Amino acid sequence: MIPDEVVEEVRQRADIVEVVGEVVSLKRAGKDYKGKCPFHEDRSPSFFVVPDKRMYHCFGCGAQGDVFRFLMERQGLGFLDAVRDLGGRYGVEIREVRRGEADDDPLRPHYEANAFARDFFRQSLADPELGARARTYLAERGIDEATQERFGLGYAPDDWRGLRTAAGRHGISDELLLEVGLLTTSERASEPYDRFRDRIIFPIESEVGRVVGFGGRILGVAGKNVPKYLNSPETPVYHKGSVLYALGWARNAIRKEGAALVTEGYMDVVALAASGIQHAVATLGTALTVEQARLLRRYTDHALLLFDSDEAGLRATFRGADVLLAAGVQPLVVTLPEGDDPDSLVRRVGAEGLARYLDDALDVVDRKLQLLAEHGYFESIDRTRSAVDKLMPTLRAAADPTLRDIYVAKVAEKTGVRRETLEDELRQSATGSGAGPGAGRGSGMGPPGPLPPGEPGSWSMPPAPGGSPTGSRPGFGPGSRPGSRSGGRAGDPRSRPLPSLGPERQLLLVLLRTRDWVERAAERIGPGEFRDPVDRAIFKILLDDPDFGELPPGLPPEVVRRIEELQGDPEELEHTQRVFDAAITRLLDRSFDHRREALMRELEAAPDPETKTRVAGEMQRLRRERPGRWNVARRGSPAAPSQEQERTDG
Ligand code: CTP
Ligand code: MN
Repeated sequence: MIPDEVVEEVRQRADIVEVVGEVVSLKRAGKDYKGKCPFHEDRSPSFFVVPDKRMYHCFGCGAQGDVFRFLMERQGLGFLDAVRDLGGRYGVEIREVRRGEADDDPLRPHYEANAFARDFFRQSLADPELGARARTYLAERGIDEATQERFGLGYAPDDWRGLRTAAGRHGISDELLLEVGLLTTSERASEPYDRFRDRIIFPIESEVGRVVGFGGRILGVAGKNVPKYLNSPETPVYHKGSVLYALGWARNAIRKEGAALVTEGYMDVVALAASGIQHAVATLGTALTVEQARLLRRYTDHALLLFDSDEAGLRATFRGADVLLAAGVQPLVVTLPEGDDPDSLVRRVGAEGLARYLDDALDVVDRKLQLLAEHGYFESIDRTRSAVDKLMPTLRAAADPTLRDIYVAKVAEKTGVRRETLEDELRQSATGSGAGPGAGRGSGMGPPGPLPPGEPGSWSMPPAPGGSPTGSRPGFGPGSRPGSRSGGRAGDPRSRPLPSLGPERQLLLVLLRTRDWVERAAERIGPGEFRDPVDRAIFKILLDDPDFGELPPGLPPEVVRRIEELQGDPEELEHTQRVFDAAITRLLDRSFDHRREALMRELEAAPDPETKTRVAGEMQRLRRERPGRWNVARRGSPAAPSQEQERTDG
C-alpha cells in the first residue's frame, strides 16, 4: 500500500492540466481550462479542468475526478499504478508499506493470479526434467539464461491441468483463472483446462511491472491445429492495444539512448536484449495504437520502426508512423533485409551489424520521399500532385510544430511546391472537425491527377514507370538501400486488391482457410458480434468443430451457399494475421460503439438521478473495457488514426 499522505503529495504535485492536456486539447477559460470531453461524443466543449481543485468535470456526461481517476479511465491503469506513474513523473518518491487489510484495488487478485502463474511457469522451465526441451529450444535460439531470467520467461508443461492444480492448492479459484485467461473452456471438455500447454511463456508486464497477460510460443514449427503463438485474451487487466511488450524493462535504456526500437514480436525484443540491445519494445503483432504511442512518448520522442520490409510491413510502418507523429514522437524507418526480422538479423550479424541498419534509419518523410522518387513520382506534374497527396496525411499528423515545419520544407524542396501552398493545403484540410491526423482524410483536395486505389491516405503505389510486366516491383522493398539486394517480391496492390468484404466475411474467410485460428478468434469474440444471421451461423459451425471437412447435414441452404461462396473466393490473403486482427478489432469496435451509443441514449433519457448514476456506472465499466476506443468514433478527433484504417470497409 502507498500511504495516504504520499498519494496526497502526488496529487498536489501532479499538474492536472498537463496530464489531461496530453489527451485533450485545452483552452483557457478564466482560471480554468476547457475542451472537448474525451469520455463522450462532445460537440461543444463541455469538459472543464479546474486546477485549483485539481479536478476535472464534464457537464455533458458527468465524468469527473482527479488526476488519478483520469489516468485510470483513460489508460486503464489501476489506482496504484496511476499513483506510481505520476509519482515517477513529478518526482515524488513512492514508499510502499506492507499491505494491510484495506485494499482499494479490486483487480489485485487478478494480478496476483498472474504473478503466481509466472512463477509456476518459471519453475517449470527451471525443472531439470520438465523444462529440458524448452531450455534446449531457447538455447538454440540464442537466448541465454540471464536473458531468460530478465524477461521472466517460463515454460507451460504439456499438461491440461498443471497450472490449475498448482493454483488451486494456493487457493486461487477457477473463476479467477478463467477471468485472467489462464484457464479456458470448451464445449467438449467438462471442466476448465490450462490455456497454455507445452509452450514457452512470455509474461507480459505493464510498464510498472505487474503481470497483465501471457504469450506462449510452441517449441517447434506451427502445425495444423497449433498456432505458433497463443496470447491471453482481453481480460480485466489485459488490453492488448494499451501494452507495449517489455516497456518496463526497456524504459531506462530508452531514456538513455534517446530513442526506442519498436518491433513486432516477443522474440525480437528478447533476442535483441540477448545481444545487448536494451531499448526495444514490441507491439505484439498488431498495428501500433494511439495508446502505445502515448506510452512511448513518456520516455522518448524518437522511435525507430523495425517492421518487416515487405509491402504489408511497410504499410504498417507508415501507419504506425502517423500514429507516433500524432503523439509527438518522431518516427524513423529502419529497412531490414527482405525476409529478416530483428531477431533473425541480430542473430546473423550481431549487435554491431545491426547498428549499421539503425544508423541508416531514415525519418519517415525522407523514406517516403525516397520511395516516391524511386517510383518516378517527381517526373511529371500529375504524379507530383499525387505524391503531395500521399505525403499530406503524414505532415498533418505531425503534432510537433517544429517537426511539421521541417517536413513542409523538405516536401517543398523535393516537389517544387511552394511552402505557403503546402501550408494552405494543410490548414484547409484541417478545418472542420479538428486538426487531428485523419481529419479531412478522404475528403477535400480532389486531386486532378490519377490517384492510386485504396483510401486517399493509404500507402499504395502504382508501379514504377517501366516496372516489370508481371506486376512485381523490383526496388519497392529493401532495394532502396545501397548495398542491399533489390528483391521486389511484393506484388502490385492494384493487381491484387484487398478484399472488399465486411469484417464478418473477412474473418470467416480467414477462419475457413486457417482453421487453427478459430480458437484464437473464439478467445476474443463470440457469435453475438456477428450481425448477419448467416455469418453468425457459420461462425458457430466453426466453433463447434473447427476441423469440419464435410458440412454438417441439415444446414439451411443459404448457409451452405455462403460457405461455398467463401471457400470458392479466389482472394489471396497474404497477410492473414493483419486481416484477422483488423476484422476482429472492427467487430469489437462496432459492438462497443453500439453499446456505448445505447448507453448515451439511456443517459440522455434518464428520468431520475438514480438511473443516471447507474447508467454512468455502466459507462465507466464499458470504458474500462476498451479505454482507447471511447472517442474514436468522433470524426476528426485527435484519437482518430485507428489502427486499422487499412480498408475494412463494412
Ligand atoms: N503473433 C501472434 N499469433 C501468431 C503469430 C504472431 O500473436 N499466430 C504475434 C506475436 O506477438 C509475435 C508477433 O505477432 O511475437 C510477431 O509475429 P511473428 O513475426 O510471426 O513472430 P516472431 O516474433 O518472429 O516469432 P518467432 O521468431 O518465434 O517465429
Ligand atoms: Mn522471428
